[in-house]
Amino acid sequence: MESERMRDVITLRDFSRADIDTIVQEALTLMHQGSVRPMIRRKMASLFFEPSTRTRVSSETAGESENFYVNGFAGIEGTSVVKGEPLKDTIGMFEVYGNEIIVMRHFLQGAARYAADITPVPIINGGDGSNAHPTQGLLDLATIVEAHQKIDGQKIALVGDLRYSRVAPSNLLGLRHFDIELWLVSPPGLEMPEWRVKEYEQATGKKVITTPNLEEVMKIVDVLEVFRIQRERFPKGEEGEVQFRKAAGIYQITAEKLRNAHNPNLMVMHPLPRDKNVMEITMDVDDTPHAWFKRQAQIGMYVRQALYRKILEEGFEGIPQNHADPPTIYLPLGESRPKTKDTWILNNGTLIDHLEPGMGYKIAHLLGFDNSNQTAYPVPRLPSVRYGEKDVFVAKDIFLTPEQLNKIRLVSRTARVDIIRDSKIVQKFDPVLPYELTEVVECPNSRCISSPEHQEFAPSKFYVESQEPLHLRCHYCEQPIGRREVKLKY
Ligand code: NCD
Repeated sequence: MESERMRDVITLRDFSRADIDTIVQEALTLMHQGSVRPMIRRKMASLFFEPSTRTRVSSETAGESENFYVNGFAGIEGTSVVKGEPLKDTIGMFEVYGNEIIVMRHFLQGAARYAADITPVPIINGGDGSNAHPTQGLLDLATIVEAHQKIDGQKIALVGDLRYSRVAPSNLLGLRHFDIELWLVSPPGLEMPEWRVKEYEQATGKKVITTPNLEEVMKIVDVLEVFRIQRERFPKGEEGEVQFRKAAGIYQITAEKLRNAHNPNLMVMHPLPRDKNVMEITMDVDDTPHAWFKRQAQIGMYVRQALYRKILEEGFEGIPQNHADPPTIYLPLGESRPKTKDTWILNNGTLIDHLEPGMGYKIAHLLGFDNSNQTAYPVPRLPSVRYGEKDVFVAKDIFLTPEQLNKIRLVSRTARVDIIRDSKIVQKFDPVLPYELTEVVECPNSRCISSPEHQEFAPSKFYVESQEPLHLRCHYCEQPIGRREVKLKY
């Protein structure tokens, strides 16, 4: 149905192979065949909370080609953001002014996702901290197609700061739809976060090759994408300065190295800007046929134009998600009587059995019962046939529902619930988490927009991707967490 099509461009995690192919094709067609400027004058907003040259200017120029009146800001100086305006209000303004698309760049991870949640206006993420840069990811793919006609079969290396770059993760999320070979080359300490590599390997079933040896890689690959060291995202002060000096200059692409690579078709890409203090690609590369970075930026303009058209026309198909909550499975009741040793604890109410030792108090807290509650309390360290020792939680004459109890799964792997009436177990089940958890778990990533320190009022939200082993993903910053990282929100 028309209204259900995706119209936001937040992360390539949401994009199907067909979505990617259509945008790439459309962008290259616009570039080679030109386009007729639409008659209808529309408005678009360009909101850049962080420095930018290419993403902002190419987005705005593409807007001009599509007959958009472009309004917004380049940097927060001169805006009410410096007066402490929350993001929600800024976005709300550009909505009521009648903008039909908002392109935005923000320093917090998940900022674009949050914006998309709070406005019906389609949002294009022009970079959210070190999380994602989907339009760059798409234009990189389009550049490879322009140079090599196809992406399948290519040997591709990502080189440089893969830890803080937001482009590299978007490259992985885009490239996972293709049949390629991938190398990762980065200075020590600036490696791609392990979860991202694992995710790519799981999605593709292929091993990524991680190596420090750039010269060797240059002899093998067809495409090198080089990344600037993201100095501004390093820890502040001396520590960051030392880290930067250690990493700067380790990898430098020069015309001579390209000659030694003996691959006349090797394409060198870079999202730009390159850093003149580092020169990760030296100036003499510019005049070689290997240099694709300027062309890449140009292609980016057409990719953005293609995105606007798609958003205003049919939208994207996206990746279908199964948002259904798993059902609570009631277990057979056996002889329907609580074991003798449990009977003294409870004749009526809810018993949470088989809790890991020490877990009882946590459960009390999770369910909102304080320690002085006379009728709902933990009983620690009872002997357990199955686990040696266990805690239980008792709620006398209180019949908690599966909805109230399923959160227990966040902290306990083994918990089992007995609902007891007149000394008889009438229901027995294992808590099972719903697909979506809102305001239950706090995101441990301090750069995530939902982190309370940023005061942006983004309600914490996680998706349960796997119940066991427990695997949650933050709706905003996309980071996965396991049971050990779960910090409950109260
Ligand atoms: C990149 C960015 O801002 O993430 N630039 C871009 O948008 N083309 C890369 C960078 O800043 O290094």
